[in-house]
Amino acid sequence: MSKEAKLELDGKVYPLPTVEGSEGEKAVDISSLRANTGYITLDDGYGNTGSCVSKVTFIDGDKGILRYRGIPIEELAEKSNFIETGYLIIYGKLPNRAQLKRFSDLLTDNQFLHEDMKFHFEGFPMGAHPMAILSAMINAASCFDERLMRWKWGETRDFDVYVARLISQVRTIAAYSYRKSRGLPLIYPKKAYKYTANFLHMLFSTPYEDFELKPEVVKALDLIFLLHADHEQNCSTSTVRMVASSQANLFASCAAGVCALWGPLHGGANQAVIEMLEEIHREGDDGSKFIAAAKDKNSGRKLMGFGHRVYKNYDPRAKIIKKACDDVLSKLHINDPLLDIAKHLEAAVLKDPYFIERKLYPNVDFYSGIIMRALGIPVEMFTVIFAIGRMPGWIANYKEIMEEPKGRIYRPRQIYTGRTLNHYAPLAGRK
Ligand code: ACO
Repeated sequence: MSKEAKLELDGKVYPLPTVEGSEGEKAVDISSLRANTGYITLDDGYGNTGSCVSKVTFIDGDKGILRYRGIPIEELAEKSNFIETGYLIIYGKLPNRAQLKRFSDLLTDNQFLHEDMKFHFEGFPMGAHPMAILSAMINAASCFDERLMRWKWGETRDFDVYVARLISQVRTIAAYSYRKSRGLPLIYPKKAYKYTANFLHMLFSTPYEDFELKPEVVKALDLIFLLHADHEQNCSTSTVRMVASSQANLFASCAAGVCALWGPLHGGANQAVIEMLEEIHREGDDGSKFIAAAKDKNSGRKLMGFGHRVYKNYDPRAKIIKKACDDVLSKLHINDPLLDIAKHLEAAVLKDPYFIERKLYPNVDFYSGIIMRALGIPVEMFTVIFAIGRMPGWIANYKEIMEEPKGRIYRPRQIYTGRTLNHYAPLAGRK
């Protein structure tokens, strides 16, 4: 029998049921609180609020554990690849050979954008940020399928096709958005290439010459996609769930996720980390000045790539990426001064009482930018790479919302602190 919490308010005691997750996570279920007491809970930034129950991803932030559908991220990083892991996240279990083949075939069949979408790309100015183009074009892509516009969850088996289309086309859109932002001709995907190789081909090949696909480069980028594939109820995934709860279509819901991801406190941090490291390098500082500024609340600065709402320990993805970073740079014979600065910064921060007391460790974004730089990926594409990787997680969360039997729209409440009732004053009499 589950435990019961008791809340005493205005001289009355209200019993509240508790819920326990499969990994022992505990929650007080307050869904009847307002109806029974007239009170709501207030939790600025949702730090103590469970917005849903979910079967997709488990994180223990104190122990630094991350598992997709129960499988540790370390095992997946070593033994799986992005597409197999994406299938696991969306469908709940690892695919067998036939399922994986069908998924791969669907990805290949759906990789081309509608030709008319080219005109939309042309509408963006040179230099437009690829994240703006990405979110707009994911939404636009849905308009090119009449059936998707009318599609209702559970009516047909089309979901598999839409999943494959979104995962496959986000990569094509991402590559086109980069090429558009640089004024370069668009490169079509090739049937022979696997997912990540095809993305690099569309990004870097020219009409005259195919990009040389070095296996270590393809592998490193695939690992980055895999490590970003889901991360439970973060800002962008919660946004996707919020939009999906209104029964917006899959493409619209995930386009909203792209917008939420863009900010520098979330997915945009990977770009911000490189800009920070470049600034430190330019100024000839070893990072000490920047650390001092990050500790000063009046400076408006933060140490980008450090800290996490959930991890109060080393982000397990950061550990994997740090190692991959060393491997890739040594295999490609790249000596990047920013890597040295990053390592120095990390070592200094891990000894600094300010960061120790607040349990601020490097997060996934701290080293991912250095790898992407080494792979030749331009800095404005870093967050786009994150968005491509996060697509399976957003889709899995969309699916959970659609499968939710009650299907209630997400609609939080607030405590109003504005002016109480006052009345319209004619313009002539206003001060
Ligand atoms: N540099 C300096 N101080 C920091 C940092 C940082 N990077 N992160 C948190 N702190 C401080 C806060 O100022 C606060 O100090 P206080 O207790 O004296 O007021 C304390 O640490 C606790 O931080 P919170 O603000 O409660 O952390 P929150 O959970 O709200 O924010 C976040 C988490 C947004 C990730 C924050 O740590 C941050 O801004 N980090 C830098 C940006 C970043 O790397 N974002 C990527 C996150 S991972 C991802 O989205 C993939």
